[in-house]
Amino acid sequence: MTEPFIRLRNVEKTYLTKDSTILAVDDVSFDIYESEFIAIVGPSGCGKTTILKMLAGLVSYTKGEIWIGDKRVTRPQTNLGIIFQDAVMLDWRDVLSNVMLQIDIRKLDKSKYRPRAMELLKDVGLEGFERKKPYELSGGMRQRVSICRALVHDPPLLLMDEPFGALDALTREQISMDIQHLWMEKRKTALLITHSIPEAVLLADRVIVMTPRPGRIAEIMEIDLPRPRRLDRLPEKFNEYAGHIRQIFQASGVLALDI
Ligand SMILES: Nc1ncnc2c1ncn2[C@@H]1O[C@H](COP(=O)(O)OP(=O)(O)OP(=O)(O)O)[C@@H](O)[C@H]1O
Ligand SMILES: [Mg+2]
Repeated sequence: MTEPFIRLRNVEKTYLTKDSTILAVDDVSFDIYESEFIAIVGPSGCGKTTILKMLAGLVSYTKGEIWIGDKRVTRPQTNLGIIFQDAVMLDWRDVLSNVMLQIDIRKLDKSKYRPRAMELLKDVGLEGFERKKPYELSGGMRQRVSICRALVHDPPLLLMDEPFGALDALTREQISMDIQHLWMEKRKTALLITHSIPEAVLLADRVIVMTPRPGRIAEIMEIDLPRPRRLDRLPEKFNEYAGHIRQIFQASGVLALDI
């Protein structure tokens, strides 16, 4: 077996606020292998965003170790792409230059990356929109632009924090298909955080199921379904996986399904 690309070992995060301490993440350990697609599902406030930010080096951890490759994470990481819940775009820049923002900030060669930006926009169905301004786009289109921006500098790791959260149900479905397509093509190591059990099962190789706060790992489930996975052709096993995750949430009091 090859070495994992990412390792979290007994990671804990306690937030110190003015009048209290909050244990947000408690003793979390998992590995992510290169080219793997991992999803984390868990109730609100269980520390999902905290885990993603610790991995990106944006928030410090209070115990344990986080490694990306052979480097311990101790400061903000530059060799990754992040997509947040709300598509943050600079209003005065057009679509293409919003995607190219990463290249400008990193002072990379624009002429080299522009064709890649164009290709990514085409991949997510935004060909012809390169010169539009953000206010001319729908919420779903803006989120697609942020996917392209997260990938344009070709990082080996893509972190997504509820990238579909602000979107309507149909657009969510379409963008999750886009993400599957991009992942199958580029095979970036990916970590998706979501509240949605079906989205996690649809996209991931393994799903990490979290307990309510303080966030611990309840179970790590392997999703053994062939790709491409299509929403209109979901096998029976899909429902079994989703049902099993629901049971975990019911057992921990997160979901009460009795009516
Ligand atoms: N900067 C902070 N200072 C203090 N407490 C924080 C801070 N950030 C998060 N927390 C607390 O840590 C816990 C976990 O927060 P986090 O944002 O990681 O949860 P989450 O699982 O992403 O939730 P959601 O699904 O609602 O986005 C919460 O109780 C939250 O109040
Ligand atoms: Mg969050």
